[in-house]
Amino acid sequence: MPPNIPLNDVYRRLLTVALDGALRHLADLPDQPVTVPTSDTMLRQLLGGPAPSAPTEPEAVLDTLLRAAELGLGPTGSSRYFGYVVGGVFPVALAADWLTSAWDQVTATYDTSPLAAVLEDICRGWLVEMFGLPVGTSASFTSSCTLANLICLATARAALLDRVGWDLVTRGLNGAPPITVLVNEHVHASVLRSLRLLGLGGDIRPLVTDGQGRVKLGPLEKEISRTNGGPVIACGQVGELHTGAVDPLRPLCEQIHAIGGWAHFDAAFGLWAATTELRHGLLDGLDLADSWSTDAHKWLNVPYESGMALVADAEAHRRAMAIHPDYLNQDAGRVRHPIQWGVAFSQRARVIPLWATLTQLGKTGIAELVGRHCALARRLAACLRREPGVVILNDVTLNQVLVRFEHPGGDGDRHTMAVTQAFQRAGVAWASGSGWGGRAVLRFSFVNWTTTGEDVDRAAASLLECHRALRSAPLPGVYRGGGHR
Ligand SMILES: Cc1ncc(COP(=O)(O)O)c(C=O)c1O
Repeated sequence: MPPNIPLNDVYRRLLTVALDGALRHLADLPDQPVTVPTSDTMLRQLLGGPAPSAPTEPEAVLDTLLRAAELGLGPTGSSRYFGYVVGGVFPVALAADWLTSAWDQVTATYDTSPLAAVLEDICRGWLVEMFGLPVGTSASFTSSCTLANLICLATARAALLDRVGWDLVTRGLNGAPPITVLVNEHVHASVLRSLRLLGLGGDIRPLVTDGQGRVKLGPLEKEISRTNGGPVIACGQVGELHTGAVDPLRPLCEQIHAIGGWAHFDAAFGLWAATTELRHGLLDGLDLADSWSTDAHKWLNVPYESGMALVADAEAHRRAMAIHPDYLNQDAGRVRHPIQWGVAFSQRARVIPLWATLTQLGKTGIAELVGRHCALARRLAACLRREPGVVILNDVTLNQVLVRFEHPGGDGDRHTMAVTQAFQRAGVAWASGSGWGGRAVLRFSFVNWTTTGEDVDRAAASLLECHRALRSAPLPGVYRGGGHR
């Protein structure tokens, strides 16, 4: 950068280019096809080649990036993207996120960012209140629910071993009493990965579930009776990825606690339902658990990466994660040192967009958002259910809809996969194919704040068109391209 150009002018020029590019993208989004671009080669040509040997003007860098965006952005921001569980971004969250980058705070100790430390403590308190969790529940603000699962389960491991007189910090795992882990048989892969990383993969016992993916109490009791009196962690779900189902929280927690165990719930998106009346029905007993993991980048619509680990026993959480290197000032008089609660040392102040979004929406705004998405899910299910050959496989209690397509020729799997492919290619909307109970399915998730009833109707119309066209054709001719699994 030439030294005679005032720094502020450089920022203004570049940020203006970024702002214009961002606004163009957001304005174009509603009319863009909701398809995954096949742009790998073109992206490599535009962005790759040999490692840059000399500097490039920053305007040219941004220009290349903006051209690449036209080729290679996934459709996940669209109001008609229903794949996986992918939220959008509220404007206030986006703006706060830009400020977060401009301020470039290190969320480590109070000294590195008093703002982030105080906001973490405030958001922790607000979330505990909004979700109805025990007062004093601690929080770690993570980059993902995966990392939140890891932190919760690391805390569970240390706390349970501590209860049987084994200090994990000083003695490690060699020779430690074995821990039995009971998991909902449909538990998210990130929980299993966390268990593996923690050395808890040795004795994982799947818990039998019903057709919706909820742990069945009879088999749970049996499984509990087979534990040997040693430490037990149970991993349940609040919001099954396919069906949105919630485990029977109260009996599950009570039974696990009766044997001195730890109840952890992966609630990546489902925890937000606790901000609604569902807390007293579907989510009854949520507050009895020992730990919960969730994401704000899903249902709260803040930018990636924003997850949270919540632990009822704050002292156990702090003991499991705390670290005190000499060079970091962690003055005990300060309100909070984020580094004591998580894994990373240097972290983005991701709590800033979280605080902004919680503040803008408030309790009623979040409850309205969640309720609206559940209603949209019911609207889609009602529309599809009327069609011959379309089966809704789940009880639509939350925001997920699980669909299966039957063919008069009898091969529902191949038909469902073909409908999925045709629907994804049509570009009106996008949902992800999966398997449930050994059968091919198409799953929809409603979490983007911009999705409307009209979006749902357009998605349903496109889907039914694909289904009808493929259903009226004989099976062999339809599937020349093969399935997608
Ligand atoms: C139920 C569930 N648990 C855990 C995860 C993992 O969350 P993350 O992608 O934030 O790591 C996801 C989604 O990705 C999920 O849907």
